[in-house]
Amino acid sequence: MPLRCLVLASGRGSNFQALLEASVRPQAPYSLEALVTDRTPCGAEALAARWQVPAKCLPYRDFSSRAAFDKALAHRVRAAAPDLVLCAGFMRVLGPAFFEACPTPLLNIHPSLLPAHRGLYTHRQTLEAGDAFHGASVHWVTPELDGGPLLAQARLPVAPEDTESSLAVRVLELEHALYPRALSYLAEAGPAARPLMLAWDGEALVPWP
Ligand code: GRF
Repeated sequence: MPLRCLVLASGRGSNFQALLEASVRPQAPYSLEALVTDRTPCGAEALAARWQVPAKCLPYRDFSSRAAFDKALAHRVRAAAPDLVLCAGFMRVLGPAFFEACPTPLLNIHPSLLPAHRGLYTHRQTLEAGDAFHGASVHWVTPELDGGPLLAQARLPVAPEDTESSLAVRVLELEHALYPRALSYLAEAGPAARPLMLAWDGEALVPWP
């Protein structure tokens, strides 16, 4: 049975789109049942309309506190009863009130080789650190920001001429391949499997050399 997933997104939704496209391939290991956003309008919401995925917005600004938002979001997830929540460019840090009220496991995609470079501006952090490799990670979401266990990671080499914007383009392309691949790995190997380590050759994910 495919994993029934609910997606959380805040912005343009290119990862949501990659997940949507992979979800209609034969034998896809997951289905996308619903989208929840924290702002409207946004690109992810428009994609949901195009793909006929039921979407709901919980506008963050309408809530009196982060805890109130977290509780409403947890309630919304529980009502949809998915097997899994997929954060795809969801720009809210979930607090204790969410985790207390929602037992559903969550995955997130983050544009760095975690545990390196948590938080924002990861391309800049990578360049400033002088790293030889950059990439993206799919990890379980815990109350610790970008600190949950890894499910899958893919890397690419940083070139001497790379800038924040050139890295942003290449890492995003890698992310679009990695998130669906991580879900296939989860379906095959189970949640306790060791992390899947991959590399991006510019066109496809290949085994980590
Ligand atoms: C991606 O880089 C994702 O890893 C990060 O936010 C960005 C969202 O992009 N969490 P998009 O909305 O999926 O295009």
